[in-house]
Amino acid sequence: MPSLLTGKGSVEYNESMNITDKFIKNNNLAKEEFVELIRLAEADAEVRRSLTEEAVKLRRKYYGIDVYTRGLIEFTNYCRNDCYYCGIRRSNRNAERYRLTKEEILECCRNGYGLGFRTFVLQGGEDPYFTDERMADIVRAIRDGFPECAITLSVGEHSKDTYRLWKEAGADRYLLRHETADEALYGSLHPKEMDFARRRQCLYDLKELGYQTGAGFMVGSPGQKLEDLAEDLVFLKELNPNMAGIGPFIPHHDTRYAGEPAGSVERTVLLLSIIRILLPKVLLPATTALGTMDPLGREKGLAAGANVVMPNLSPLKNRRQYELYDNKICTGEEAAECRMCLAGRVESAGYRLVIDRGDSKL
Ligand code: SAM
Ligand code: FES
Repeated sequence: MPSLLTGKGSVEYNESMNITDKFIKNNNLAKEEFVELIRLAEADAEVRRSLTEEAVKLRRKYYGIDVYTRGLIEFTNYCRNDCYYCGIRRSNRNAERYRLTKEEILECCRNGYGLGFRTFVLQGGEDPYFTDERMADIVRAIRDGFPECAITLSVGEHSKDTYRLWKEAGADRYLLRHETADEALYGSLHPKEMDFARRRQCLYDLKELGYQTGAGFMVGSPGQKLEDLAEDLVFLKELNPNMAGIGPFIPHHDTRYAGEPAGSVERTVLLLSIIRILLPKVLLPATTALGTMDPLGREKGLAAGANVVMPNLSPLKNRRQYELYDNKICTGEEAAECRMCLAGRVESAGYRLVIDRGDSKL
């Protein structure tokens, strides 16, 4: 802890406050400054306190005490991709594969609607069974059945024409984490056929088509340096997404990273506050991965500036099979239990879970 009484301490104190103040004032920094900000914050509780305070202030300014909820429907764990860190990547022969039928997906929506969900997030691997037209048909059916609900898709990289088709079918939002904004790190986490530039292009296409768009990254992925996180922050500022999803990397036993350490909860929470300041109106979830790493992870996320939670609406029989990483929480609960549990957690953190689409205020 720098001292205010010694000369050297004062200089350090001033330096840390200068860069923190500059960030709070401008909602932005250069890449090297982000590296410095993270370093300073991790070394100095006072800097962390200033960042959290500002993040909570901004969150309250734009969202009051409201927390939005999204019903997550994990509808397929088949995937043509082979992301090295992911438990459902195609080369994991031990993954028990499943896909939901259109009727099962609609049943999840009906159940969710009754529980107060007004956003449905359809997430899955890149499963070729769900052709452009099959997906469009499912989106249309949800749009017809639940006209006042928002539909979010999270099904990976596709052509702009495909994204357009789904938008016209009634999809409102799209989540596609950029995973990392550093090309070399991206290359080390993914096989060659997965192209760094293409993923970023998808995000720009989605924005252009009028989707409320979400990007994001894992914290603590194998080989990640502070410089990479700083690059992620620079990219987020440039993209200016409506949503930003970040969560700690968690190893999966059937991947090459089985023995790697998980990402830190403290660093994730710090980055949530930094992202809230960087993009004050962004929709920022306290993720399941954060809750998996720490029983109070999601509460800590909310207290750091997050304003969204995503309880699981997937059928109980398939929950365990959507295993992206080890020890994933909420695989044994019914949707109603998940919703109740999260409402309690949100309230205990001083917020209110609302029945609302929770659209972007950007
Ligand atoms: N296929 C879609 C896509 O590529 O965007 C959505 C599904 S993918 C499983 C959703 C997210 O899970 C990824 O963007 C990634 O950040 C996260 N994820 C995958 N493996 C993970 C792991 N081992 N630890 C933490 N998060 C992980
Ligand atoms: Fe496709 Fe993980 S590799 S969802």
